[in-house]
Amino acid sequence: MPLAKTLKQRRQQLAKHLDTPVLLWSGQATPRNFPANTHPFRPSSHFLYFAGLPLENAVIHLADGHLTLFMDEATPAEALWHGPSPTRSELAHQIGAGKALPLEDLKYFIHDQVATLKVQDSVTTQQQEQLLGRSLPIAKQVQDQDLALLKAIVQLRICHDDYALAEIRRAARVSVTAHKTGMATTVLGKNLTEAHIRAAMEQVIMANGMTCAYNSIVTVHGEVLHNNHYHHPLGEHDLVLADVGAETDTGWASDITRTWPTSGKFSSTQRDLYDVVLAAHDACIAAAKPGVEYRELHLLACRTLTTGLVDLGILVGQPDDLVEQDAHALFFPHGVGHLLGLDVHDMEDLGDLAGYALGRQRSDRFGLGFLRLDRPLQSGMAVTIEPGFYQVPGILADQGNQERYATMVNWERLAAFADVRGIRIEDDVLITDNGCEVLTAELPTAVSKIEHLVN
Ligand code: GLY
Ligand code: MN
Ligand code: MN
Repeated sequence: MPLAKTLKQRRQQLAKHLDTPVLLWSGQATPRNFPANTHPFRPSSHFLYFAGLPLENAVIHLADGHLTLFMDEATPAEALWHGPSPTRSELAHQIGAGKALPLEDLKYFIHDQVATLKVQDSVTTQQQEQLLGRSLPIAKQVQDQDLALLKAIVQLRICHDDYALAEIRRAARVSVTAHKTGMATTVLGKNLTEAHIRAAMEQVIMANGMTCAYNSIVTVHGEVLHNNHYHHPLGEHDLVLADVGAETDTGWASDITRTWPTSGKFSSTQRDLYDVVLAAHDACIAAAKPGVEYRELHLLACRTLTTGLVDLGILVGQPDDLVEQDAHALFFPHGVGHLLGLDVHDMEDLGDLAGYALGRQRSDRFGLGFLRLDRPLQSGMAVTIEPGFYQVPGILADQGNQERYATMVNWERLAAFADVRGIRIEDDVLITDNGCEVLTAELPTAVSKIEHLVN
């Protein structure tokens, strides 16, 4: 479906949920040290959802299904430095805006009932606040009409339309190629570091005209959950954990993790634990369908992991009891995944308003507190499934944990698995009418296939 038609449908849907006018700002690039040297610009996802194009310093007005675009034409100086750009009315035509006006005219559209959401950059937020004459607090504390807008946006963005899905698929395809390239680039004996693997993977993303949906994690220290350092050499017995995902030029994300041996061959201990994580991954995917609580998938992953760890002699006890005691969280301290869409953790700028169904709150349990999604699955939702196993020193060496789990962990047996620091297997999953579709299925998960790709 063409962009303008999709955007029209989204506006019409919004109008069904909301009867106040809406202004959404795209935001602007933040300078690094002088105005012309900026951090990469990424528009607000709420703006992108209704405006479709990554326009900088633009605003849209939505009312009763109608769209107005506010933007200034490029100045001669901008044209000189950045080359020609489409005019405001050309852009308005592309996105189906009925009117195209300069930013100065925004003041005629301001009144008490206008709803908005705060953007990421502080300069634009100040402009929003000044124009609206009110402060824009974080999502949890927004005032009435903004809360209504926020809830309407969650309703719309939580399940994807065909255009969004085509974009997510496009991002997923490029991410799959990036991961295959990362595996193929992994060679011992050439003094490679994590940075070489990262570069090979991100090269694929850049060459496809995309950007990374988040800071890549490419590390032989998978136990550092968000490791953004890339200096370690590839050791002979290491596992590489690569969490790398592409984002399309219209902002739609993908999010994949694979873990592979630098040598091309998992050791027996690495393979044993890899297969435990894979069993949890596969169990969640087999169970994912409309109506199933995502929290239940998380608990299924916890039980499957725990069963595998009991079978390997690392945990001691009944898997259900161990999960009740949060023993799984010693090795799997995060949630099994999250919503995926225009953001990699979709709509987490709204706190838990998107991730948690109305009336639900985060648990403070060690094994549930990092669950980012607690809703029944619906057809059209895209989620990640990403169980893992990690030996995080901060968790395992913690005295409180050592005392609490003294009899539940066979610490001696665990020591035999020292060549596993971190394993995660992450795929992007679309919930369909009858079950689910793995959007990243082209990238294998089985040990033999991973070894084949590395070799
Ligand atoms: N790439 C971040 C995550 O998997 O949640
Ligand atoms: Mn993820
Ligand atoms: Mn990820």
